[in-house]
Amino acid sequence: DTGAGKGLAGRTAVPALHPVSCILYLPSVMTLDTSELNKTRHDFNGRDSVWLFGYGSLIFKADFPFLERRPASIEGWARRFWQGSHDHRGTPERPGRVLTLVESPGTVCAGMAYRVAPSVFEHLDVREKNGYLRFATPMTFADGGHEEGLVYIATEDNEAFLGEAPEADIARQIALATGPSGPNSEYLLRLADSLRQLGDDCSHTFAIEACLRAEERLPR
Ligand code: SIN
Repeated sequence: DTGAGKGLAGRTAVPALHPVSCILYLPSVMTLDTSELNKTRHDFNGRDSVWLFGYGSLIFKADFPFLERRPASIEGWARRFWQGSHDHRGTPERPGRVLTLVESPGTVCAGMAYRVAPSVFEHLDVREKNGYLRFATPMTFADGGHEEGLVYIATEDNEAFLGEAPEADIARQIALATGPSGPNSEYLLRLADSLRQLGDDCSHTFAIEACLRAEERLPR
């Protein structure tokens, strides 16, 4: 049982990275800082490395040590700029918009897989603390083969979740936001460039990028 096609619940049930059973209960509205919760979600005992799948800033900003880095994809999930960011790419007064994944049967989401030491999750859990939870997922490498990896997803029950909006409105919000990690527009533009390199045709990202470039009069 790979958990494929079963949604988030299925994804936590992949044998090699068991969630810790006592936390199957999640509060109905999660607290803003998910780093403590993530520490309890997977048991790394006996593992000297774990695969991580990145689909957003984890593609273009690898600020952690890794043992291997390979283009990969996951199936059944689509990127959406539906997560608010007041800690990295915005402020509490003017939150930015960053990526999460939503279930989308048939969609292939390309990204970057990293094989990391389990201790690297201490850093990643803090970096992704603004509403993201780790889930186990099957991954397919671009050059062939499969592995199970962990992916950070901000589900709609987290406090920073902003949800759907017209792509032009999302672009405007991104154009206006900046935070400790830099301008929100940089996140979008670097992501779009990375997706072109990976050959991912993410119409949502590219539509928002086109709106932002038009608004900011940036070259295409
Ligand atoms: C990811 O990149 O995989 C998670 C979302 C983000 O940090 O941008």
